[in-house]
Amino acid sequence: MPQDSIWQQILDYSHRADPYPLYAELRKTPVVWAEDGSYVVSTYREIVALLHDPRLSSDRRNFPEYDADAPTQASEEGPAGLPPPFIQTDPPDHDRARRLLTWNFGPPHRPGRIDSMIPDMFGIVTGEIDDFAGKDDVAGKDRSGTTRVDIVDDFAYPFPVTVICRLLGVPRDDEPRFQAMSDAVIKAVDPTTGGITERQRRRDKANADLGQYFAELLDARRGQPGDDLLSGLLSGDGAEAAMPYEQVLSNAALLLVAGHETTVNLITNGMLTLLRHPEVLDRLRRGDEPDLAARVVEELLRYEPPVQFLANSRNTLDDIEVGGTTIPKGSPVTLVLAAGSRDPDFVHDPDRFDPDREHNEHLGFGGGIHYCFGAPLARPETQIALTELACRLRNPRLLADPPPYRASPSLRGPRHLLVEIDGVD
Ligand code: HEM
Repeated sequence: MPQDSIWQQILDYSHRADPYPLYAELRKTPVVWAEDGSYVVSTYREIVALLHDPRLSSDRRNFPEYDADAPTQASEEGPAGLPPPFIQTDPPDHDRARRLLTWNFGPPHRPGRIDSMIPDMFGIVTGEIDDFAGKDDVAGKDRSGTTRVDIVDDFAYPFPVTVICRLLGVPRDDEPRFQAMSDAVIKAVDPTTGGITERQRRRDKANADLGQYFAELLDARRGQPGDDLLSGLLSGDGAEAAMPYEQVLSNAALLLVAGHETTVNLITNGMLTLLRHPEVLDRLRRGDEPDLAARVVEELLRYEPPVQFLANSRNTLDDIEVGGTTIPKGSPVTLVLAAGSRDPDFVHDPDRFDPDREHNEHLGFGGGIHYCFGAPLARPETQIALTELACRLRNPRLLADPPPYRASPSLRGPRHLLVEIDGVD
């Protein structure tokens, strides 16, 4: 592949439904210099090496284009200059913030927090599927008694949003307020929407707006802490310390966005994949293999991961030799996780969806110190969602294959997934 066309190809919407042949091409040169001065890495071994290399920084203050004087104002007067969320920091700041969050989040310190949400998750999913039966709008029942549902809008989107709101103690009815800000963060991560500096500025602005939202929420609750994660962070409840107020605001914004823009795609990619592999859908419906849902979800994280790549999210603090190439100090690096998880040098028969594979060390949740913080939540959410869809939808059929995809190549998933069913059990 000509080196000057790498980003053009990755961003090209025509690859969205099936980017994997492009990734196979990319893997022929494990580390490639791209036209914007960054390096794109696409083979499993090299990605894992870099994910664990302390000479790669996630702290935007180390990025050559970072402008320390750029304002990070919220739109009204409000908390300006919030510290970066911990995903954009390095040790020791990163580790300290992650430790405080982990203490309040779930396993191993608070196993009860996620476990106690499992009945809630079943309740939300059951309610959403019950509602399919009553659909009678344009996308609803036709004369033959079948029903059409959009797995994205009617199911996969509202479910994780409701769960993350409950976890953080955010009122679900505030969605219209935080949705636009969350979309702005997601857009700023999307490499189709501008250069690194410009996107970082928009991301800072959207984070500051979300921080302002959380400041108002926490203000209104001052003096009445709940049992939610944010209250726990502020009080320091049982952990080594409380988290400083500004850090709580920026990390709350991160969790809210990360908690609902990724799981929606895993559930939707999952349903699409199951409908394309009816034998696995049948096994899930029969329900006689207790660990099948878990294996299906792990295989989906390898085979159709929502986070396809981490676009210029790292920067080299030194010259780094990897895959026969020296990446010079000060270079932005993109790790194509989805290409690594299908690397034939590491995975047997990588283009086959096979929930029975023995080893599945996928990169769907990243790796190293920034390994997905929300994995203990995303896993049960997706297992419950897919199992209930498999068990309750009568004779589901895809109405469009491939479905229309969202624009983003990095956070990839269908915008709609229209499915026809003969009712729900
Ligand atoms: C980090 C994927 C769900 C919170 C990551 C990373 C990936 C990822 C690939 C690594 C980023 C990097 O190295 O720069 C996913 C996928 C999800 C999911 C595929 C759903 C299927 C969630 C949920 C939450 C969450 C539900 C919140 C409750 C985070 C946070 C980080 C992170 C806070 C940063 C961790 C750190 O910097 O130490 N995620 N995620 N994620 N994820 Fe997730």
